[in-house]
Amino acid sequence: MEQLLNYPQIQSNKIPTHVAIIMDGNGRWAKKQGLMRIFGHHKGVDAVRGAIEFAAEIGIKYVTMYAFSTENWNRPPIEVNALMKLLVDSIEKELPTLMKNGIRLKTLGNISQLPGNCAEQLFKAEEQTKNNDNTTLILALSYSGRWDITQAMKKIGNDIQNGLLDPNSITDELIGETLNTAQYPDPDLLIRTSGEQRISNFLLWEIAYSEVYFTEVLWPDFTKQHFLDAILDYQNRERRFGKTTEQIAK
Ligand code: FPP
Repeated sequence: MEQLLNYPQIQSNKIPTHVAIIMDGNGRWAKKQGLMRIFGHHKGVDAVRGAIEFAAEIGIKYVTMYAFSTENWNRPPIEVNALMKLLVDSIEKELPTLMKNGIRLKTLGNISQLPGNCAEQLFKAEEQTKNNDNTTLILALSYSGRWDITQAMKKIGNDIQNGLLDPNSITDELIGETLNTAQYPDPDLLIRTSGEQRISNFLLWEIAYSEVYFTEVLWPDFTKQHFLDAILDYQNRERRFGKTTEQIAK
């Protein structure tokens, strides 16, 4: 088996194809330092950079990051505005790094709700990185799992009403194909930082068989070493997809 030069502990034949990350704990990190919450988000961008670099280094093809949930719109406007500005600034600043590392940027969520300059900047970055094929970074923004399932149900309902679809031909494949995540494989591994053990409306349909990894580390403190720990933990798990151990061994 081929070994990864920088990470000989990793089994190169068991790299997850898609890792989803709930980046949590920015606010608590800032509070611990006596700083305003937004400083935690700023530090969080450095952790995003490290995680993406690591993913590209070890050959993870897709990384989905929960950057802003549908529910996050309920935060104080000052924090929402600061987060949006941080997002635009970071995308602009990180574009050369994305290009250098062969990272393709994609967005997932109700992007039309984002301020115009934010949506524009994202669109520009998606266009510029569209031919990169090392790793795809999917930023979930104004996203929630229920939002996506709801929009899929509306589409399916419309198709039935217009006589284009027979309700008996609704399968889980059809529902999956109607979600905004249709073009990506389901996550193999879901990581959540900061000690919270919740899914918080993230990728509800897609994580049916994902391995889940919780760590106490707050997102701004999450380093490549922490990501490596999560990968090694994942590689020790037995994924049975509802089958028995004996069936898997065949
Ligand atoms: C959760 O921490 C974090 C967020 C809601 C925002 C995450 C966003 C970033 C790390 C910046 C994203 C930027 C790019 C370029 C992807 P929290 O605020 O809920 O922390 P708390 O639970 O401690 O309050």
